[in-house]
Amino acid sequence: MSRPAILVARYVLPELLERLSQHFEVESNQADQPLPQPELIDRLQGKRGVFVTASERIDAGLLDACPDLRAVCTMAVGYNNIDVAACTARGILVSNTPDVLTESTADFGFALMLAAARRITESERFLREGRWTHCTYTLMNGVDVYGRTLGIFGMGRIGQAIARRGALGFGMKVIYHNRNRLSPDIEATLGARWVDKDTLLREADHLLLVVPYSPTVHHAIGAGEFARMKPTATLTNIARGGVVDDAALVGALRAGRIAAAALDVYEGEPKLNPGLLEVPNVVLTPHIASATAATRKAMADLAAENLIAALTGGTPPTPVPSS
Ligand code: GLV
Repeated sequence: MSRPAILVARYVLPELLERLSQHFEVESNQADQPLPQPELIDRLQGKRGVFVTASERIDAGLLDACPDLRAVCTMAVGYNNIDVAACTARGILVSNTPDVLTESTADFGFALMLAAARRITESERFLREGRWTHCTYTLMNGVDVYGRTLGIFGMGRIGQAIARRGALGFGMKVIYHNRNRLSPDIEATLGARWVDKDTLLREADHLLLVVPYSPTVHHAIGAGEFARMKPTATLTNIARGGVVDDAALVGALRAGRIAAAALDVYEGEPKLNPGLLEVPNVVLTPHIASATAATRKAMADLAAENLIAALTGGTPPTPVPSS
């Protein structure tokens, strides 16, 4: 029996390609550049499965043009780039890579928050530009993290991992807002308290966004929200571009409505709102929150396991709920 054909749409380690080749006829894009949509569609002709990342757009138009597809396996926890309802309607399995990236992503979110609060990248730029002539009382004064109130918007696995860091490592009071409230046991273990969104905005000294993107959270943080935050607060977004209104954020940072921000994700990335490059009090990173060598490998391996199981009669370990 001939082996199913698949496309690995982005770079993976050679040993993983080798493993996939034991089950499939594999075509791969080892150049690690996102394929333009027409080329992606072209290369998916006759393919039963595709290995993607958060950058490829799998929408109804692509699915209609690629009728042989049976599995879409992304190497990411977020899957807002995939039209899950359209996949479900066509009997196509979708999987993601939760859990394996939780701790690395939480580390990075916490690091971004610390960098914004303590002005780390701003200080480094100042020093590299040769502007450091002497120490002064006010030089790069930031805001404290230890013992302050950590606000988390979106309390899934990564939000909870961040809460643990804040409560156990930094003596923080943790408040969170989430559609579903955690069980009292989990709240007690994390030392976290559910609050409504307004309280979250008003009380957080450091607000971290970890909510999965969906149209309901589009621009959940915009001008109205900045107006309710403390002027000494920081905002960190490791969720998805579009959760924050980036133009409103630039305005809030310029006006000193909040003290600082840190972003790993952007509206329309990899392009960014040019205003973000002009304000000093924002830390900017290129969507790398899960990027450690070990975590990337674990994510790629899990995406591959899903693909193999989906197309060889097995049970994919981490399917996304069909909608
Ligand atoms: C990265 O953004 C992911 O969703 O894994």
